[in-house]
Amino acid sequence: MTTSNSLRWFRRAARLGAVVVGAWVRLTDAGLGCPDWPGCYGHVHPAQVEGSVASANAAYPSRPFNYQKAMHEMVHRYIATTLGLVIVGLAAFAFWNRRDPAQPRVLPFVVLAVVCLQGALGAYTVTLLVVPLVVTLHLVGGLTTMALLWWLSLAPARRDVKAAERPVRRLAIAALAALALQILLGGWTSTNYAAVACPDFPTCQGSFLPRTDFRDAFVLWRGLGVDYEGGVLAPPARTAIHYAHRIGAVLAGLLLVAVAVAGWRRAQTPGVRAAAAAVGAAVAVQWLIGMNLIWQGFPLALGTAHNAGAALLLLATVTLLRQLWPGGPDIGFTTASGRRSSLPPRAT
Ligand code: HEM
Repeated sequence: MTTSNSLRWFRRAARLGAVVVGAWVRLTDAGLGCPDWPGCYGHVHPAQVEGSVASANAAYPSRPFNYQKAMHEMVHRYIATTLGLVIVGLAAFAFWNRRDPAQPRVLPFVVLAVVCLQGALGAYTVTLLVVPLVVTLHLVGGLTTMALLWWLSLAPARRDVKAAERPVRRLAIAALAALALQILLGGWTSTNYAAVACPDFPTCQGSFLPRTDFRDAFVLWRGLGVDYEGGVLAPPARTAIHYAHRIGAVLAGLLLVAVAVAGWRRAQTPGVRAAAAAVGAAVAVQWLIGMNLIWQGFPLALGTAHNAGAALLLLATVTLLRQLWPGGPDIGFTTASGRRSSLPPRAT
């Protein structure tokens, strides 16, 4: 027995929802809409705080209660909690069903570990006053959970990968690594409030060589007790971060386009060809959103769409890799005799 399709789609939607709503929370400056965790000013729903606003404000004098921001933060927590419970169920199911050779045995527990870490990072995001490193790792953790769930929900290719496709697989692994780095740089840009450091494109402050401070830009830890909301870096450090994200967009973009073209040309199945096309389309859309984000003065809708675009690009790349990775429930199939096989067992 395997997990039903509807449950799979629910997991996919909940994961994408949690990632994108998380971005929306941050971009509306509502990351500290609830200064405590797991409750909001000690309550399950922000509406419950409205009867006791004075005492809530007395408990958190530097964070006066704002219903709108509290609601944004709590919607993200409700979705994330629901997804967390589904993942616990998934791991329990994987354990219970462990004798089934088609049941992935490792990845459900890896996802569970990542989601537990993700919950802890979410709590630290709030209690450590949005430290950029923690918030960036929280974004990466969300996308990692989504990518792993996506991988789990895709059926492995039931074939041997042809020699023509092997270089594409290697290129896809490199492109995935470059994309991960680019997402880290994007998170760093957003959490250090470095977007507005370059309000023009393709130039930055009217120049291709703006004043930058790369040394200060990538100090990962600056200690506790500082309120990082709004950013603490000087303009040249913010410019360096923004510029690094643009350079990363060129390098990662080139690799992703290369893998899309190679995948399209060397594909031996319609699945590989479709996934390659999706990677190419997603990278073009992500570039368009990124440029328009700057040209239109960083509107919230485009900031959130840029986060969703990164998620879709990641899903397209993982799908391509899955198409080029015939194997078992986790990475390779385990046969009834306990040996690893490159091909999945046929249904009887
Ligand atoms: C492969 C291409 C790209 C990827 C994967 C990517 C990914 C990301 C991610 C994950 C974020 C963080 C979003 C968040 O915190 O919710 C981000 C932020 C940002 N990206 Fe990109 N990006 C790409 C290309 C670009 C391009 C081409 C531009 C501009 C020309 C751009 C401009 C920005 C800006 C300005 C931010 C900060 C948004 C803000 O704080 O409001 N990105 N990017």
